[in-house]
Amino acid sequence: MDGSGLRERLAADGQAHLLRFWDELKEAERGELLADLNICHFPEILRFFRQAVQGSEALREQQKVDEHMEPVPKEVQGSVTRDRERLPTWEAEGLLQISQSKVAVLLLAGGQGTRLGVTSPKGMYNVGLLSQKTLFQIQAERILKLQQLASEQFGHKCTIPWYIMTSGRTMDSTNEFFVKNNYFGLQKENIILFQQGMLPAMTFDGKAILEGKSKIAMAPDGNGGLYRALGNQKIVEDMEDRGIAYVHVYCVDNILVKVADPIFIGFCVKQQADCGAKVVEKTHPTEAVGVVCKVNGLYQVVEYSEITLVTAQKRNADGRLTFNAGNICNHFFTLQFLKDVVKIHEPKLRHHVAQKKIPYINDQGQQIKPDKPNGIKMEKFVFDIFQFSKKFVIFEVLREDEFSPLKNADSQDGKDTPTTARHALMSLHHRWVLNAGGHFVDENGTRIPAIPSLKELTDLPIKCEISALVSYAGEGLEKYVASRDFRTPLIIDENGAQELIQNGL
Ligand code: UTP
Repeated sequence: MDGSGLRERLAADGQAHLLRFWDELKEAERGELLADLNICHFPEILRFFRQAVQGSEALREQQKVDEHMEPVPKEVQGSVTRDRERLPTWEAEGLLQISQSKVAVLLLAGGQGTRLGVTSPKGMYNVGLLSQKTLFQIQAERILKLQQLASEQFGHKCTIPWYIMTSGRTMDSTNEFFVKNNYFGLQKENIILFQQGMLPAMTFDGKAILEGKSKIAMAPDGNGGLYRALGNQKIVEDMEDRGIAYVHVYCVDNILVKVADPIFIGFCVKQQADCGAKVVEKTHPTEAVGVVCKVNGLYQVVEYSEITLVTAQKRNADGRLTFNAGNICNHFFTLQFLKDVVKIHEPKLRHHVAQKKIPYINDQGQQIKPDKPNGIKMEKFVFDIFQFSKKFVIFEVLREDEFSPLKNADSQDGKDTPTTARHALMSLHHRWVLNAGGHFVDENGTRIPAIPSLKELTDLPIKCEISALVSYAGEGLEKYVASRDFRTPLIIDENGAQELIQNGL
């Protein structure tokens, strides 16, 4: 194998440095480097790089976006709390669409989980529930249950296909995990894995970074890499062949995610929306969450760092923050909208720039871990396409019921950790038991107050877990729990309600 033709091509694109260790590489290492180079089309990557850098400079010059921002108008908002009486209608509509097999779910699982510090895909993570279920299993069981609920209600079988976007780094292990676990009871042909693109990390002057002598520092192209992948992996065609009309897109790390939530789907369908975002109320001005709003008349997510404190603190007459629609990466799209995005809009989207400390190999062949940012990663975001929507809606849900992301490793007072995720799920299930008429008692048989409190991270939740195969959203639990007293830990699964022996847990 020789690198000569390649060397000229790379030199023409200013990337000849990628071959500087070529002569000392073994055959297998050369193969490894060539595999990375094969997926790098540098003329295109350099175009992305220039556009991304120009875009981020323009953003910096423009300073804050405050004066161009307006909140999402009331007419396109729905809410689980303020529209209580309409929820049954929306839920019925959503279940109807699901029963006709018109709804698919799409999981964004191509991330690297750097903050959590895992090498395997985040979906395989076990947050330490009583059942030891992983995030993938929890989601699979919610899909199974929803298929069952819709089928029973409408008297015929239905399918919710599960599209899972992985990256070059997570594809094989995700696939093996599903095979090993027999697809968690779902049909193999209804789980469709596909891969998003990868891009090299670049120095500030446009050189791809070598992380090892035979390895380019490649990273997935952001969760907005979805749209390119939907096109080039022929996923929209697959959806069309299956008769899908609506797609629920969500992130792998939210342990409370209501996959294909019929209320959200029904709300969006009834509003004739082509694009929708589930949000939770941002309650604190300085909370670092992106808010959905309009900028210069177009919908987008504005990050906390892009606005001034004055705007972040603005409140309406009712006391709520003016910009309160906290984005939780939970979206509804019609297939028609996705098709337009893939065909027309996606190529116009610029990558965002994230300055990072990227480990690299120096000219002497030593690996260096920089202590300040030495380059950029280029990423698109899943919400970048809101601006193209013709009918955009938002749906506000309760954070304690629907949003608890797993981002960081456990630490004292940590936010979004395995512990907070586990507690959020157990606290939700505790409330389900109480709402269905069950009670918990302590070791003396005294009833534990029926108001679950999780004020402090140190407060331990009631240890209680309900399998999604039993209940999707708290329904149908009366037969197991009504008027019964339970000691913890309590598991309710297909075999009914069982208190577990404390020992060994
Ligand atoms: P995050 O931005 O939180 O990234 O992703 P992450 O990979 O989970 O964690 P860090 O930042 O490395 O610590 C939000 C969602 O978007 C997906 C993730 O899998 C997660 O579901 N994602 C992220 C992708 O699918 N592709 C990407 O390129 C990036």
